[in-house]
Amino acid sequence: MARVVIVGASGAIGGELVDAYAKDTLNFVYAVSRKPDSLKWCARENIQPVSLKGGAADEPMVSAPDDEDLARIARLIGADGPLDRVIVATGMLHSNGIAPEKSLKALSYESLSTVFMVNAFYPAMVAKHFIPLLAKHEDSVFAALSARVGSIEDNHLGGWYAYRASKAALNMLLKTASIEARRANPNALVVGLHPGTVDSDLSKPFQSRVPKGKLFSAEFAAQQLHAVLESLGPEANGRVYAWDGRAIPF
Ligand SMILES: NC(=O)c1ccc[n+]([C@@H]2O[C@H](COP(=O)([O-])OP(=O)(O)OC[C@H]3O[C@@H](n4cnc5c(N)ncnc54)[C@H](OP(=O)(O)O)[C@@H]3O)[C@@H](O)[C@H]2O)c1
Repeated sequence: MARVVIVGASGAIGGELVDAYAKDTLNFVYAVSRKPDSLKWCARENIQPVSLKGGAADEPMVSAPDDEDLARIARLIGADGPLDRVIVATGMLHSNGIAPEKSLKALSYESLSTVFMVNAFYPAMVAKHFIPLLAKHEDSVFAALSARVGSIEDNHLGGWYAYRASKAALNMLLKTASIEARRANPNALVVGLHPGTVDSDLSKPFQSRVPKGKLFSAEFAAQQLHAVLESLGPEANGRVYAWDGRAIPF
């Protein structure tokens, strides 16, 4: 049985990734979320909800789950044995009082640090606690949901300073972790993933600009990402892949 961890399981894409992996009854899925009660599919026998504290959206300054709580859930999940897949599907684009910036005038220390905290530092802290738990004798993968707009080379439009920069930082954190992970575990892969533009709370305020036919359902995006992840070879380590299996330039 393969053991799979999805962090951010209450999210649109996170929830559908849980479903995509749990459909295979040979997988056992740990569905990690700050809101495990809202998880719709927990009746399945091969899904275990795991509750994470912190990161409340109604806090004046949005935070992310703390180091101690991540250590607690890593101990809990790790006690069952090594992990085959760990996928971090968390992230934010807007929240109370935070919106993607169109201009330098809109930057603030508060919104920059909040978006970096949730999009870059939080997945890195999950990596700190979960990469050491990856299986060593079989192929294993740590992946985090990034975004095409985090590509520095691909930035032709500008705008969205905090979101873009936090995803570029995430890509660098993943690349660096991919080098370290390989030293201890030659079978491990560490990658970033871009799901395409997906119908979710995160994208809702910006969907009117999406060309017809280009807004994916979360179910479609998760199925694509599942297929991409399961097809990657050793050369993928440290890179970022889109929903269609193509690598995204840094
Ligand atoms: N939707 C798109 O068009 C799109 C495009 C490119 C990239 N992405 C990326 O894909 C990922 C998933 O996006 P989505 O569309 O599924 O968004 P979503 O439905 O809003 O889900 C995001 C999840 O992230 C977690 N989260 C949000 N704020 C948090 C905080 N302060 N602390 C801890 N966890 C927090 C929550 O999971 P829990 O409540 O379960 O903990 C939330 O359900 C993100 O990284 C996003 O940047 C999305």
